[in-house]
Amino acid sequence: MYHRAKAPCRATIVTMLFESRRFDFFAPRQIVFGSSRLSELGQLARSLGRRALIVRGGTSLDRAGIPERVTRLLSGAGVEAHWGPRIEREPQVSDVDQAVAQVRRDPPDFIIGIGGGSAIDLAKAIASLVPQQDSSTVVDYLETVGRGRTLIQSPLPVIAVPTTAGTGSEVTKNAVISDSANHFKASLRHPGMVPVVALVDPELTLTCPQALTVHSGMDALTQLIESYLSRRAQPISDALALEGIRVAKECLPRVAANGSDLEAREGMAYAALLSGLALANSGLGLAHGVAPALGIYCNIPHGLACAVMLPPALEVNRRVRAEKLARVGEALTGRHFSSIEQGCDAAITTVRELSLSLGIPQRLSQLGVRREQIPALVQASRGSSLKANPRDLSDAELAEIFQRLL
Ligand SMILES: [Fe+2]
Repeated sequence: MYHRAKAPCRATIVTMLFESRRFDFFAPRQIVFGSSRLSELGQLARSLGRRALIVRGGTSLDRAGIPERVTRLLSGAGVEAHWGPRIEREPQVSDVDQAVAQVRRDPPDFIIGIGGGSAIDLAKAIASLVPQQDSSTVVDYLETVGRGRTLIQSPLPVIAVPTTAGTGSEVTKNAVISDSANHFKASLRHPGMVPVVALVDPELTLTCPQALTVHSGMDALTQLIESYLSRRAQPISDALALEGIRVAKECLPRVAANGSDLEAREGMAYAALLSGLALANSGLGLAHGVAPALGIYCNIPHGLACAVMLPPALEVNRRVRAEKLARVGEALTGRHFSSIEQGCDAAITTVRELSLSLGIPQRLSQLGVRREQIPALVQASRGSSLKANPRDLSDAELAEIFQRLL
């Protein structure tokens, strides 16, 4: 028998479970995750064509013999490997423009980006711009600083193969491009930029140096927490973020202490993957809002900037996201708290203790930030991440946050 009176109760529960009932979710067509799965690169590549351009990261890849292995895997599957640019810094406008001009003369069927976030971002930017006909520079397409151009032609397919566990770039729809001379760091962003395949083989992170491991790991944790607290948070990314927070909290201290701990490396590769899926669909917040400014003006690497900014960002947002921050506290500690305030305290304390135990500086002055740089830092922080922060922050409030951290 149909009980009309029960319907409102059910509707109420659903509303409570899903804070936002309208959302989109972007993800790669295929995520291939697991140790030793680089061996599947040849077959995955062959499904996308016969000619691959490979964009790769720094010399540690070469030392690990990755290029020879990749060439062997591709040729074994009947795919020609064309080795393109190698990038050892966060990609600059000039890196993208030069590569695009070169690749346009003889475009490949698809692009493989192998390395840290910088290599994958460069691969995604090249793949996006090569098919476009209407511009000679990536700047025209960048958020905030560009001319508002959008990609008309679909990007070339990308296979992303991360060798660090942090940025999540293997599953995101943006690439971060810098211009040191003109003091900006901004995103090229389009839903078509999500790599078609994310091939995540945690064994590739075993040779990642300790400092980069720690900074990348803190980047992933910051992405997980900020996407969960973001004003654009949504149910799927919330579920992924909480899972990632639990895993990162357990595995980050382990990879920091012992880079050969493959189980922990797998955990961090998984947490970073989840962080990318979460941020691509929910946006970020204050720490990621100011990290580009700290990179451009003070030369602070992205992951380190995020790590330093995460505890103050949680304090700034505590009042407007208390309930969710308490859930972060539970995910980080594995404990249940009887009050929201206790959960919030646990979240902030646990993040701060983790940061200290990993040797992350707690003051921006320790990283060379000077008082007179604050006005420029405030201006350069007004990107898309800050817009997703759960509360608006005035220039004066931002300046005060920097000031307190000196
Ligand atoms: Fe990040």
